[in-house]
Amino acid sequence: MGNVISRAKLLVGAVYLINQTLNSLEKRLKKSPGLPVPNPSLPFWTVPKSSIAAIQQPLPDHADIVVVGSGITAASFVYNVLEADSALRVVVLEAREVCSGATGRNGGHINAPLWQDWIETKEQHGEKDARMLINFRLAHIKEMQAVASKEDILKESQVRETEHLEVHLDKDTFEETCEGLAAWKADMPEVAGDYEAVASAEAQAKYGITEGAAGVVVGPGGAMHPYRFVTNLFAKLLERYSDRFSIASHTPCTSIQAPTASTPYYTVRTPSGNVLATHVVHATNGWISHLVEPMRTKVVPTRGTMSAQRPGTALGRTTHDGQRSYVFYPGGLGYDYLTQLPAGEHELMFGGGWAAAALASALAELGCADDAAFSVPGAAHLAGALPLYFARDAWGREKGRTKAVWGGILGISADGLPWVGRLPHKLAGRAPPPASSAPRAPHKETGEARATTAAPGEWISAGYTGEGMVHAWMCGKALASMVLDKEDAIQDWFPETLRITEARWKKANLEEFISHKMSG
Ligand SMILES: Cc1cc2nc3c(=O)[nH]c(=O)nc-3n(C[C@H](O)[C@H](O)[C@H](O)COP(=O)(O)OP(=O)(O)OC[C@H]3O[C@@H](n4cnc5c(N)ncnc54)[C@H](O)[C@@H]3O)c2cc1C
Ligand SMILES: *[C@@H]1O[C@H](CO)[C@@H](O)[C@H](O)[C@H]1NC(C)=O
Repeated sequence: MGNVISRAKLLVGAVYLINQTLNSLEKRLKKSPGLPVPNPSLPFWTVPKSSIAAIQQPLPDHADIVVVGSGITAASFVYNVLEADSALRVVVLEAREVCSGATGRNGGHINAPLWQDWIETKEQHGEKDARMLINFRLAHIKEMQAVASKEDILKESQVRETEHLEVHLDKDTFEETCEGLAAWKADMPEVAGDYEAVASAEAQAKYGITEGAAGVVVGPGGAMHPYRFVTNLFAKLLERYSDRFSIASHTPCTSIQAPTASTPYYTVRTPSGNVLATHVVHATNGWISHLVEPMRTKVVPTRGTMSAQRPGTALGRTTHDGQRSYVFYPGGLGYDYLTQLPAGEHELMFGGGWAAAALASALAELGCADDAAFSVPGAAHLAGALPLYFARDAWGREKGRTKAVWGGILGISADGLPWVGRLPHKLAGRAPPPASSAPRAPHKETGEARATTAAPGEWISAGYTGEGMVHAWMCGKALASMVLDKEDAIQDWFPETLRITEARWKKANLEEFISHKMSG
């Protein structure tokens, strides 16, 4: 009898706790992420700072394009617009230091979801679109390598190919991933041939991972130093296009005012003054729904935790000092991810921690846009897990491990895919400037004055769901073509499934997405 009563009490307590957790989650999801907090935690990537970190060029009265945000989305968009040989005047507004959002705080992986969501994506979008999406993701490593090489920033940005290992500690998740892999291999043998599942004993011997591992999937991957990639690229562009490109850091966009009869442009407001603009590009990812309120619950700010740690004395032999990258699935919710710097102390850039956190702590990161702090349970897990993921002799002796811990804000998309393109009028909530406000230039052959961009408007590329390094660059490039009215240029490679439409917006349902992910 006593037993029954205490069980009932426990149940009431649990229901109460879950109810409280869900209530506060709901509140957070409805709230604006606000402007980025002014005192973010310090990521290891940003030491030493870029020379342009605090650049604050004077605001022009008018710009053809105002870009809000200065991460990899902004960098790609701006690079591809400026390099397209137009005369457009572009301004980047950044609330804090340049590249102080997710791009300067992430795990540095260029590892595309391939087989992991293949069966699902094929079911939802059909095989043709699913293939296009895979090829789009896979294109990132080559494209960013080509840009880094052309711009002579390959060394700084560390864009490189890795041997990537997806390590499963749990037998069930390993079996599941093997099923996905087999299906993907059957459908896309032309690219899937390089990826192989290796079961436990062989995997341990070959890759120096823990004997607790059920197996790994091995194949080509990539890693980079995203902060240096973006800041070095911006520095080059500032020099090359000093007459028509500028960056104002510490200049948040606080609101955007619709055009009026007397001012046929957007008025982009900041504490340092206003800029009149023909186009506004939202490159704010996790913060998107502050200025674009209808994107609330469609792109959800979510805090991730990252750390930089010294490897054990022997580990370099196993990780090849940065030429391997890893994702560890401990079983349960989420995963931990590891890249290693190819230089210096070969620091391990290790993030995740969701899997180890209790449900309530994991959920507390959803809807959280505060990167001044990080998840303590997440960080505690990260601080202990690394040596346990490798075989004892592969790790070696300890050297004093954690050098830095920080938080970062990613943007979870309610249907798992990024949102790219012209913001439909209804979602923008503001009317665009009239077509006559588009910049004009004489046509090369006829000499007739023609608009050099698509019709004025607001544009977005956001919601990479923690996988920005295999989506953001090509999304930014596609967005540049859209704004330049060169849709033909992207037809062959841009997955239309990523385009933002009102219909997709209506359909995307966060609860469904989350409950689906949680049930595995
Ligand atoms: C901890 C963590 C680990 C991750 N690991 C990986 C990984 O290993 N691989 C991977 O592929 N992806 C990873 N991601 C995701 C990836 O970092 C992001 O998808 C990507 O960086 C997003 O780039 P972005 O330019 O769109 O946004 P951000 O880099 O976040 O840039 C947005 C910028 O907008 C600014 N801003 C916001 N609001 C305003 C405003 N109103 N006015 C002016 N400026 C504003 C912000 O300060 C910020 O600088 C990770 C993310 C996090 C947080
Ligand atoms: C859950 O919380 C809501 C809002 O506070 C409350 O109305 C409801 O009664 C609670 N339900 C339970 C089962 O505690």
